[in-house]
Order: sequence, then C-alpha cells, then structure tokens
Amino acid sequence: MTRNTLFLSLLVVGALLLAERDGASSARPVVEAEALERAHDFYAGRPREERPQAGWQAVPAGLSDLSASSCGECHTEIYQEWRLSTHAQAWTDRQFQTEIAKSGNRWLCRNCHTPLLNQMPVWAVGLEQGDVERPVYVDNPRVDLALRDEGITCAGCHVREGAIEGPTGIETAAHPTRRAERFNDETICLACHQAVRSYPGKDFVCVFETGEEWRQGPYSRQSCQFCHMQPVVRAQAVGEPARQGRRHYWPGAGIYKRPDFGPPLDQLGFGLGVDVEVTAEALLVRLSNAAAGHTLPTGDPERHIQVEVTFADVSGQALGEALRIRIGQTWEWWPEPRKLADNRLSPLEERLETIARPPGATSWTLVASSHRISREALEYHDLGDYPAARVTHRLGGELDRPEPIPGGPVG
Ligand code: HEC
Ligand code: HEC
Ligand code: HEC
Ligand code: HEC
Ligand code: HEC
Repeated sequence: MTRNTLFLSLLVVGALLLAERDGASSARPVVEAEALERAHDFYAGRPREERPQAGWQAVPAGLSDLSASSCGECHTEIYQEWRLSTHAQAWTDRQFQTEIAKSGNRWLCRNCHTPLLNQMPVWAVGLEQGDVERPVYVDNPRVDLALRDEGITCAGCHVREGAIEGPTGIETAAHPTRRAERFNDETICLACHQAVRSYPGKDFVCVFETGEEWRQGPYSRQSCQFCHMQPVVRAQAVGEPARQGRRHYWPGAGIYKRPDFGPPLDQLGFGLGVDVEVTAEALLVRLSNAAAGHTLPTGDPERHIQVEVTFADVSGQALGEALRIRIGQTWEWWPEPRKLADNRLSPLEERLETIARPPGATSWTLVASSHRISREALEYHDLGDYPAARVTHRLGGELDRPEPIPGGPVG
C-alpha cells in the first residue's frame, strides 16, 4: 500500500466511524486513524517477510463486507472449493494454534496466516529494545474476528485499494474490478511461499524456499497455479456464462487438517514416484520426485517422506525390524536453529536404494507415507490424534517372482 492509499483508507475509516457514532465522539476516529498510521509506519520499516501481506483494506463499493461467505453468495463454487483448502484453515489449524499460543512473536505469524490488518486484533507499532519477541501493540478498534478465522480469505488475495483485483479485470456491476499481473504468474504465491529470515539468539527462523527451489528447477516456465489451481471452464459467478478459470483448492501433500475435510485427492496426486525391481540378492528401490515442481517435500522444515520396507518368511512372519528411509530436512532448534541435514529430492531427481534380501525372506512390502510434522513435535505440542500423515504408496510381492505384484499410488 502506498502512503497515499493508506491516507485514503484512514479517511474512509474515520468517516465510517463518524457515521456510526453519529458524531458523539469525534475524537475517537482520530485516535484510531493514528493507531493505523503508527502500525503502518512500523511495518513499513520492517523487511518484506515481516509485513502484513495484504495491509488494511476498505470494503469495495457494492459489497457489504470482506467475508468469504459474502463473496460466496455469487461465487458459490469457488467459495466451496476455497472452504476445503488449507488456506481457509491457516488460522484455525490446530497445529498453528498450539504453535502460536507458545510464541512471543505472534505478530510475525499473523502477517501471512491472516494477511489483512483488518483480521488482526492487535497491530505491532514497535519492538522493545528491538526484540522481535517483545512487540508493542495497539488495539485494532475495528477488528473482525470472523474474518480472522477465515485465514487466507478471498480478500487477502483479491481486495486492494477499494477494488477487486483479478487475472482479467472483467467488468461487472457487482463490484469494481481491476486486472493485476500478479494473478497470472508466481508473484501472488511467493509473497508468502518464498520468505527466509533468521533471528540471531532466537530459537526460530522463517524458511520458506519453495520459490527458489522452483526457479532453479525444470518447471520454472510453469506457474504455481499450473499445478495447484486446476483449469476449469464454468460460470465464475451465479448467472454468468461459462469462462476459462481455475479451481481454488490449492491441493498440496494431501494430508488433511481435519478428518475427511480437504481438496479431492484427484486434483494433484502425490509427488513421489516409487519403482521396485527384484533381483536375486536385493530389492532395488528407485525413489523419485516425479511430479512436484520444487523439492519434495517443500515448505515447512518438519515435512518429510517415510519409506518402510519389510520382509517376511514363508509363514508370513516379519523378519526383523522394518527398514526406514526418511526424506526431509533435519534441524536442531536449540540453542540456535541450525540445519543439520537435507536429503530432499530435487524436481525429477531419482535415488536408488539397494536393500539386501535377508536369508529366509519370501515376500516383501513397501509403504511410503507423507508427513507434515514429526512424531516428537506432535507429542511436544500435545496434538494427540491430529491428522499428520497420509500413506501414498503400498507395494509388495513374492520374492521368487521376478516382478512385483501391481500396487502403486493410493488414492
Ligand atoms: C512469510 C510468511 C509466513 C510467516 C511469517 C509464518 N508462516 Fe506459517 N506458513 C507459511 C506458509 C507459506 C506455509 C505453508 C508451507 C507448508 O505447509 O509446508 C505455512 C505453514 C505453517 C504451518 C503448517 C505446517 C504444515 O506442515 O502443515 C504451521 C503450523 C505454521 N505455518 C505456523 C506458523 C507460526 C507459529 C508462525 C509464527 C511464528 C508462522 N507460521 C509464520 C507462511 C508463513
Ligand atoms: C453480488 C454478486 C457478487 C459478489 C457479492 C461478489 N462478486 Fe465478484 N464478481 C461478480 C460477477 C458477476 C463477476 C463477473 C463474472 C463474469 O462476468 O464471469 C465477478 C468477478 C470477480 C472476479 C474476477 C476479476 C478478474 O480479474 O477476472 C473476482 C476475482 C471476484 N469477482 C472476486 C470477488 C470477491 C473476492 C468477492 C468478495 C469480497 C466478490 N467477488 C463478491 C459478482 C459478485
Ligand atoms: C497470504 C499468504 C499466502 C499466499 C498469498 C499464498 N499462500 Fe499458500 N499457504 C499459506 C499458508 C500460511 C499455508 C499453510 C496453512 C496451514 O497449514 O495452516 C499455505 C498452504 C499452501 C499449500 C499447502 C497445501 C497442503 O495442504 O499441503 C499449497 C499447495 C499452497 N499454499 C499453494 C499456494 C499457491 C499456489 C499460491 C498462489 C496462488 C499461494 N499458496 C498463495 C500462505 C499463502
Ligand atoms: C491465495 C490467493 C487466492 C485466494 C485466497 C482466492 N483467490 Fe481467487 N484467484 C486467485 C488466482 C491466482 C486467480 C487466477 C486464476 C486464473 O489464472 O484463472 C484467481 C481467480 C479468481 C476469479 C476469476 C475466475 C478464475 O477462475 O480465474 C474469481 C471470480 C475469484 N478468484 C474469486 C475468489 C473468491 C470468491 C475467493 C474466496 C472464496 C478467492 N477467489 C480466493 C487467487 C486467490
Ligand atoms: C509441476 C507441478 C508443480 C508446480 C509448478 C508447483 N508445484 Fe507445488 N506441489 C506439486 C506436487 C505434485 C505437490 C505434492 C507433493 C507431495 O506429494 O507432498 C506439491 C506440493 C506443494 C506444497 C505442499 C508441501 C509439500 O511438499 O507437499 C506447497 C506449499 C507447494 N507445493 C507450493 C508451490 C508453490 C508456491 C509453487 C510455485 C512456486 C509450486 N508449488 C509449484 C506440484 C507442483
């Protein structure tokens, strides 16, 4: 937001408050406008990753409020898709809630998980002794808590400076529209999905490098939307003719935040490729990043893939412990965050694991699964039954046969 548009928004807030209060307390709007201005000054002096990604936004003409459910009265299908997305759960997510409750740096988390200043109950206006964990807050006098609970809501991406911005700027009587280039390339996604910052002396970092991983790989000519927002021809608002657009599910690892509540799995498929060849001495397991446009996995440093191989004897009895392969990053968080190891798969990278057949083995099974968070972290956060993993492949076969029994990707 530029200084001028902020000033305009301030005037609008002031005007609204005056109207509501019938002039009874003409001093208040000035104080409230001042709070917003102080917040703006503070955030403007911080690096990009530490700013509210969508700023303060006024309700565009013709609309009653900024809520996704209001947009959904006309954009019914898009609304139903968004509701199932991880973006819609970016605030209410149980893991996020337990993590944010423990930290003194909540003002940072809000900037991406509830990107509008309108969604935040408090705004940062300073830091005591420059310490990011000791923010000075002012109240947001017009906080909309229902809007906060919508996380990355429609308005967080689409509402700017009194208009609805989108990929074409198509004209409608419903609300002012404006074309914005960021919808047609990766820019809109990377505001949140490419952010790296460290905080000396603190046990947390901000590491989202999906943008760089993608840029350096073979898919950099395809936008994030190409894989994460499937193309569809349909009416984009009730009563309008069908047009070319994109679905609003943003499928990812396919691990739902709530049981049976998430994008349909056929929207994306899993990134991992598994191929097994049986020889006289060993299983040759080829693991590849077959479909992800960035490293597999990407995003949160806790994400990992696990591959478990077990052998059994003629009676079906397991022979020894399962062999485990973990693909992901390994971090030490204390006393200073430090990446210890990283064996993630780059786009299209293939890795061969040779697993010796133990004596007496007559069959084998392989189970691959994708995880958002480690077991230790789940326990640390008391997240008990929180859904945190999904099986992606189940394969197996007899060892005296040369080729595996068909199995393949699940779902
Ligand atoms: C720069 C933007 C940004 C900031 C700041 C930020 N996040 Fe996130 N967060 C993201 C993105 C992007 C993802 C999606 C990546 C993923 O799920 O792997 C995410 C995902 C998450 C997840 C889900 C991880 C998973 O594997 O499902 C949790 C929990 C989370 N963030 C907590 C926090 C907390 C707590 C803070 C504040 C300390 C915070 N975030 C600050 C952008 C941000
Ligand atoms: C009263 C009905 C109505 C409401 C409420 C409404 N819209 Fe729209 N919107 C439309 C219509 C009609 C179009 C034009 C669709 C067409 O012609 O295919 C449109 C177009 C759009 C576009 C396309 C712009 C482009 O560049 O292609 C976006 C994005 C959009 N709306 C977002 C929103 C958001 C976000 C909200 C809520 C804050 C919202 N709309 C509320 C009716 C509505
Ligand atoms: C305002 C910040 C923001 C913007 C803009 C944004 N994201 Fe996200 N995204 C997040 C956060 C935060 C999460 C994780 C929420 C959680 O897990 O609680 C996330 C999660 C995801 C996921 C993970 C889904 C899963 O469940 O595994 C995908 C995929 C994704 N985003 C793709 C995109 C794409 C593509 C774009 C651009 C069209 C985009 N995002 C724009 C913040 C953002
Ligand atoms: C994470 C950012 C993000 C969020 C949140 C988001 N959109 Fe979009 N939206 C996009 C992108 C990117 C496009 C461009 C898709 C394309 O190229 O067709 C788009 C396109 C649209 C369009 C134009 C039609 C189309 O399919 O291209 C409409 C209408 C729209 N969005 C409405 C909404 C509504 C309503 C919500 C909330 C229920 C919403 N959007 C939430 C990023 C977002
Ligand atoms: C070539 C297709 C492709 C492109 C391009 C692509 N992705 Fe992905 N992405 C995938 C697949 C497939 C997965 C599922 C990986 C899995 O099985 O966990 C995924 C997963 C994700 C996840 C969830 C974390 C994870 O590892 O599962 C996030 C977040 C994400 N992508 C963001 C982005 C962003 C942001 C961009 C643009 C910079 C992008 N993606 C470009 C295919 C793609």
